[in-house]
Amino acid sequence: MIDSKSKAISIIRAEHRVLGAVINNIKTMLLEVQAQRMKMDFSLFWAMVYYIDAFPDRLHHPKEDDWLFSRLKQRTQLANSLIDTLQRQHLDEPAALAAIRRDLGNFEAGVPGSLAVLQATIATYADFIWKHLRAEENELLPLAEAHLLASDWDDIAHAFAQNADPLVGSADSEIFDALFHDIVKRTPAPLGLGAA
Ligand SMILES: [Fe+2]
Ligand SMILES: [Fe+2]
Repeated sequence: MIDSKSKAISIIRAEHRVLGAVINNIKTMLLEVQAQRMKMDFSLFWAMVYYIDAFPDRLHHPKEDDWLFSRLKQRTQLANSLIDTLQRQHLDEPAALAAIRRDLGNFEAGVPGSLAVLQATIATYADFIWKHLRAEENELLPLAEAHLLASDWDDIAHAFAQNADPLVGSADSEIFDALFHDIVKRTPAPLGLGAA
């Protein structure tokens, strides 16, 4: 049977991969639109922006804050400044997403030059989020592995498993799962499963 530590870490990494994939697809599809190889599908883009906004904010970050970070703070002081930085970044997310929504709306309205502005905003956001995910995986998780107790990992795995397990999943996690599959189906191949 898989131990709680491996289970928790693999769910956290899998959630990071899903977020990274959606952000990467947004970037790549905008390049295709810019090169006029792809027609802009605004409803798909709004769905992807909703996903990268709501999934971390409602499911992923709260579980890091409430379980992983808070438990690690109880066990060691060594991660405190890193946790402060990561939590500030969690709080900065809504403003970054508001900028993306504004620029996507301007592009949809046909504002001149707005595609380039949207691409720049997405690139800045992608850098920001990749730094965040890398710091969590390369700096925070090793500290957690060194300092958390087996019982901490049981609790953390339990909290994160509720995102991943459809049987115990919350209404939120089912909605995000369905939304992600819908995005993949509508994203043109080879990035997704939709018509190229
Ligand atoms: Fe995070
Ligand atoms: Fe994370």
